[in-house]
Amino acid sequence: MQKKKTGTSGTKKNKAPQQSKLWGGRFSADMDGDTSAWAASISFDKRLYRADIEGSVAHAAMLAKQGIISADDALQIKSGLEEILFEIESGDFNFTDEDEDIHMNIESALTKKIGEAGKRLHTARSRNDQVATDEKIWLKEELMALAYEFTKLRALLVDIAEEHTETVMPGYTHLQHAQPVSLGFHLMAYYQMFTRDEKRIWDVYLSAGTMPLGSGALSGTPYDIDRGFTSDELGFAVPTANAMDAVSDRDHIIEFISAAAIAMMHLSRFCEELILWNTSEFGFVEMSDSYSTGSSIMPQKKNPDVAELIRGKTGRVYGDLMAILTAMKSLPLAYNKDMQEDKEPMFDAADTLMGCMKAFTGMLATTVFDADAMKASAKKGFMNATDAADYLAAKGMPFRKAHETIGKLVAYCIEENLSLEEVPMELLKKISPLFDEGFADAIDITACMKAKASPGGTAPERVKEMIAAAKGELGSTE
Ligand code: ARG
Repeated sequence: MQKKKTGTSGTKKNKAPQQSKLWGGRFSADMDGDTSAWAASISFDKRLYRADIEGSVAHAAMLAKQGIISADDALQIKSGLEEILFEIESGDFNFTDEDEDIHMNIESALTKKIGEAGKRLHTARSRNDQVATDEKIWLKEELMALAYEFTKLRALLVDIAEEHTETVMPGYTHLQHAQPVSLGFHLMAYYQMFTRDEKRIWDVYLSAGTMPLGSGALSGTPYDIDRGFTSDELGFAVPTANAMDAVSDRDHIIEFISAAAIAMMHLSRFCEELILWNTSEFGFVEMSDSYSTGSSIMPQKKNPDVAELIRGKTGRVYGDLMAILTAMKSLPLAYNKDMQEDKEPMFDAADTLMGCMKAFTGMLATTVFDADAMKASAKKGFMNATDAADYLAAKGMPFRKAHETIGKLVAYCIEENLSLEEVPMELLKKISPLFDEGFADAIDITACMKAKASPGGTAPERVKEMIAAAKGELGSTE
């Protein structure tokens, strides 16, 4: 019998009583139709279908091995699930809000297909351990695919850097000309950042490596199950240690979105630099037509939209992180429906990062670097001033005094519109007798870059070492 509804919404859709739900035994009234559709997660959690089926096949095999269900039931379950998998993948499966989520959509389709045996699948299992397991299976697969994209980008950076260990460009602090560096050195800085990102991805892979199935709703199960078997079948390292934690833990998802947010931050910094370098003011790079767009009004325009969009999408992933952190905040143990809100941020962060990595790598691979423009710019802005001070210091002047002396010389040059190289020797000698013919070589912009040979410095031999080390690392991850 149907109870009187408080609202008018959704009455049309509300045909089936709750008894038709897999959990409907104790219910005598339907859930409000619109609310039921609103609460359903199937529209987005259907992406977990493969993980859900894999988990169920392993669970059924374990139940049969332990003698909890018959071998025949397990066989029927397996072939029923395989049919469902095929239907989903060929677009013939009918997902319904009525069945709330992916777990119940699949289970009720299975029961319709194979009857009694299908009803035995949920023995010694709850949707709480099921969803936790499915999400880990899904995430681990996605992490592998993402790590591959990072490896590709790192390899590309090494390739470009190798061509540019001698290409001088301005190094900046405060976005002001600071000291000359090589383009190869600059690119290898990003290599380090993306290497840390990839490492973080593998760290998350480890966090997601514990298997929740068999935790039941929150406290375990009275059945004599073999969690080690299920864990091995599903490719996990070990079963989770505490059932209550297992069903309420979403740390790995938060760790993943944090790692994704950091990686997006790195991409956004690189994009920002490419956007600047692509301006007519800089002219250090030209982005390929295939990664640029035009303007609907200004015929001359070629805009670095892809780089801008990646920079913009960084905000989305930060939003995903904030959404899940806030959804999980203050949640009492164990499962709460709030946790259904974990999926969209996880999927969105993964999709956004994956899309950005592919677009970025393609964009970078087709970007043309203008070594002459970089060198011409490096000659401006007194980027050899530190080296000029170092020159005097090497001749015995205390560094503080040398700093002051060159500072005054720079001020004079600005007034006279000269570069340090252009100051006549007689004038230099008047400033300090320590200046001699070797000064010109010491402040040559390429020489200044090459002189930074301390470990980790921009000198070509150091960058070549970084590249060799990177190739070693890539060799071990490729
Ligand atoms: N769709 C649910 C979710 O994603 C599955 C778990 C439901 N468990 C429950 N006790 N209602 O969180």
